[in-house]
Amino acid sequence: MLLDIKQYGDPVLRAECAPVEHLDPELQILADNMIETMYAAEGIGLAAPQIGLNIQMVVIDIPEDEQEGKEPETAVINGETKPITSIMPLVFVNPELEPYGTPYLFTEGCLSVRGIRSNVLRPEFVRAKLTMLDGSVMELDCGGLLARCLQHECDHLKGFLFTDRVSSAAKITLAKKLKKLAAMR
Ligand code: NI
Repeated sequence: MLLDIKQYGDPVLRAECAPVEHLDPELQILADNMIETMYAAEGIGLAAPQIGLNIQMVVIDIPEDEQEGKEPETAVINGETKPITSIMPLVFVNPELEPYGTPYLFTEGCLSVRGIRSNVLRPEFVRAKLTMLDGSVMELDCGGLLARCLQHECDHLKGFLFTDRVSSAAKITLAKKLKKLAAMR
C-alpha cells in the first residue's frame, strides 16, 4: 500500500521520534508499505516521520551501482566484509550511529523536500547498531552512499532535514524555495 509522504512544512517532520518498544508483527506490514512507497517515489531511504509516524524506524535500499568497472560497495556487517546489496532492502528501528572520518560535501535530496538538492557536509564513515524487526542487532561499519544515507535518515528521527545542514550561504539561497514548498504542502 502506498503511503502519503509528508512534505516540508509539516510539523511531523520536526518532532523527535520515540524508540520502538515492542517489535509487533504489524511493523513488518508498515515496513513493506514504506519500502513500496520509497520505490514508487524513486528514493533510496525513507524514515517513519516522512509517512507521519514519529517512531524510530527507517527503510533503505541502495541499488547496485551498475557503472562499468565500479567495484560493488561493501561494508563490515557483523564483523564480515560483504557487499551492501546483501542487506538490502534494509529495515531497522532504534539506530545508534557513530559517524567518523573526514567530513565531505555530497549532493543530497529528500522525498519530503521536493525539487531541492544541495551539498551537505557529513563525515565519510559510520559505525552503527541497528535493531532488526526480528529483534537481532546488526553491527555495521561503512562508508560511501550507505554511510551518507544512514546519517540522512537518522537525522529525520531527530526532526532534522538535510536543508538544516547546508552552508549558511546555501541556506540563504534555499530560503525562498523552502518557504514556497511549505506554502504548497
Ligand atoms: Ni530525507
